Amino acid sequence: MSKVYIIMGVSGSGKTTIGTLLAKRLARPFYDADDFHPAANISKMKNGIPLQDDDRFLWLHTLADNIQQWSHKGAVLACSALKESYRKLLQQNQVEFIVLEGDYDTIIERMSQRSHFMAPNMLKSQFDALEVPNYGIHVSILKSPEVVTDEIMHHINKEALSEVGVFGIGVMGKSLALNMLDKGFRVSVYNRKEEELITPFLKDYGHLNVQGFEDLSAFVDSLQQPRKILLMIKAGEVIDLVLDQLVPLLDTDDIVIDGGNSFYEDTNRRIQYLGSKGLHFIGAGVSGGEKGARFGASIMPSGSLKAYQEIKEILEAISARDKNEAACCTYIGSGGSGHFIKMIHNGIEYGEMQLLAEVCAILKLNYSQEEIITILSEWQHTSEASFLLDATIEVLKYKEGTTYLTDLILDKAGDKGTGSWSSIEAFKLGISSTVMSAAVMARYDSSQKAKRVEYASHVNKDANHIEAIDTTDLLKAYSVVRIINHNQGFLIIMEASKQFGWDLNLSEIARIWTNGCIINSKFMESCVAIFKDNETIFDEVSVLKSIAAELPQLKQVLKIAIDGAISIPCFMAAYQYFTAMTSAKLSANIIQAQRDYFGAHTYQKLNDPSGTFYHTNWES
Ligand code: 6PG
Repeated sequence: MSKVYIIMGVSGSGKTTIGTLLAKRLARPFYDADDFHPAANISKMKNGIPLQDDDRFLWLHTLADNIQQWSHKGAVLACSALKESYRKLLQQNQVEFIVLEGDYDTIIERMSQRSHFMAPNMLKSQFDALEVPNYGIHVSILKSPEVVTDEIMHHINKEALSEVGVFGIGVMGKSLALNMLDKGFRVSVYNRKEEELITPFLKDYGHLNVQGFEDLSAFVDSLQQPRKILLMIKAGEVIDLVLDQLVPLLDTDDIVIDGGNSFYEDTNRRIQYLGSKGLHFIGAGVSGGEKGARFGASIMPSGSLKAYQEIKEILEAISARDKNEAACCTYIGSGGSGHFIKMIHNGIEYGEMQLLAEVCAILKLNYSQEEIITILSEWQHTSEASFLLDATIEVLKYKEGTTYLTDLILDKAGDKGTGSWSSIEAFKLGISSTVMSAAVMARYDSSQKAKRVEYASHVNKDANHIEAIDTTDLLKAYSVVRIINHNQGFLIIMEASKQFGWDLNLSEIARIWTNGCIINSKFMESCVAIFKDNETIFDEVSVLKSIAAELPQLKQVLKIAIDGAISIPCFMAAYQYFTAMTSAKLSANIIQAQRDYFGAHTYQKLNDPSGTFYHTNWES
């Protein structure tokens, strides 16, 4: 398929002259729309009877049929197409309008010079009918036809270049590329030849504004400068290998965006490396899985603000919308802060997933799967509604034959690392991450299936008498542990922001997590408001008080789980954290004394507000 350019404008604007020149430059045939009038129209015109819209529609339909055929090889067509309704009939995938713009005085003056008489009234009526489109290539006819044609060629050449390139069209890359195409961007896609993804992609989507490549330099050459290349490949060493190939092909100010789950320190390093070559590297966390990538993700870009301004339009267009229709994409900060917060997003995600798995285990003590589905479906209408709750209900519902698929799935959980990275970073920053860490450990423990089966055979875990679970109590307990999970996640982000000088806006981060991403939820909406006035969730006293009010229900749930001999590490970790953080006095005085006893590590005293450090010779 090739483009059919329709040169439009009022009579006398030079459609035929410019159209002929353009057709020559493009080596495509030229057609004049006037040559396609049906016999009835020709006879009316001969007899001086003005054509009505109905007559024109017949003619436009004939033209539309021809355009379809011409689009195999491409063509240039001169056609006044003054009204939008006319253009609508001609508009097809491969059609592009070129609008010749000139004012009445210029055109009438030119026509008189060419002794090409046109009644002023007729030209006036053409201007009255003209509805200038807000699309297409617009050129002024004030210059000579050759210069006007040059200008059109310049636009066409520029338009042949893609506005953005997607490197890697696996599930996520392909979905993001299609999302960009939906939003009207011209896209180039690249994939390694060995994976044989480009040919089938072009077979399915080649009719869209997309070019596909297996040759890297052709891919790079197909992009408008400054080039914008989104890498959608596996995080890790592969990114460095790809950069080694890509960097020599790029020009100053080109931008490479890494949309994978890369480790933020690698992103810091890559920003430095590309910066040293006059290029920009943006680390962009992308959440939402395949569906988010295709129809609206939550996007967390960081790096140079100047480079972000260049890619903002594209990233915002493909992101989800919050409740006020604002894009779930915002500039996060400098360095690898975007990948850092995506990592913590995943840490929170691990906690949220494990908490829901624990809810299912608790409910299973008393309820059938059908009943659990009903109970959780009711929760969807409460403040605990979330994407992950929806997802859990969907997986619980799914049956293979007459059996629930969840009953057939081996209880060994996998992971790709972002959860453990989050915990490791929390350790480095000195911040508690007990809920997400418990979730990571729960996955590790689950993977020890053979050992678990063996040990279980030696241990008698007869459950005590289990009290019936009040599902309203469970909902309250669940609400409390979720708040604690979020509190810890955001605390890690806040601490990183301070230690790394990122100056992150937590409310804005919560906002872009209210839709599109895996942890979007009703509670995340509350976080947007909480972080407008507070540094942490617990700093909002009303939240602390609401947790305290629901603590009896949480304790009751913990008791039931212990009596039922089920493992609920995240519920437990959340409870312990809250207890510690709301204890004015802890047992850490004993730790300090122990440290000083064997290692002279010193301690401070309650009755000395100066903060002086003491050492005691404990054995004297
Ligand atoms: C997302 C997800 C996505 C993926 C993670 C977690 O935000 O879209 O977090 O990035 O689910 O990689 O995967 P694992 O559970 O395998 O670690």
